[in-house]
Amino acid sequence: MYFVKEFQYFYKMKIGLLFIFISIAFASCYYDKEEDLYSATPVDCDTLNVSYNTDIKPVITSHCLNCHSNINASGLGQGIKLETYEDIKKYALDGSLYGSVSADPEYFVMPRDYRIPPCSVLKIKAWINNGAPNN
Ligand code: HEC
Repeated sequence: MYFVKEFQYFYKMKIGLLFIFISIAFASCYYDKEEDLYSATPVDCDTLNVSYNTDIKPVITSHCLNCHSNINASGLGQGIKLETYEDIKKYALDGSLYGSVSADPEYFVMPRDYRIPPCSVLKIKAWINNGAPNN
């Protein structure tokens, strides 16, 4: 009887250890992923020659117009339109365009469920720093 109990205890401990080991493995895995996501420096990101038409507009078209096109804005986009240069420029200059794509806690994070590529965020920042030209 005694041996059976001891065996059960030993067995439980092994399962416990295995569980701890698996948790650590997962935790470190998640940590790696998080590091990749947030500290990745986009090496070939050209922020010197940023153009509204080739760098900014396509990003907004593919990630934002689902909700912020002229047609969708009144419903899904809460009235915020990002279809024309004039409209985009308005949010560029008031800080909310960069604030939202860079997940600044003072703004609503945009898009809501994923982040646009880090290089696109840097290009948007550079374009705004240049005065958001229509180039
Ligand atoms: C799924 C729909 C959806 C998508 C896609 C989306 N937005 Fe929004 N956006 C909203 C809604 C809704 C609001 C109003 C705030 C809220 O309820 O989150 C908003 C608010 C904003 C604001 C105002 C933020 C503030 O804090 O004042 C800006 C700027 C903005 N969006 C820009 C963008 C940009 C840029 C993209 C693409 C990178 C984008 N949005 C993609 C739905 C969307």
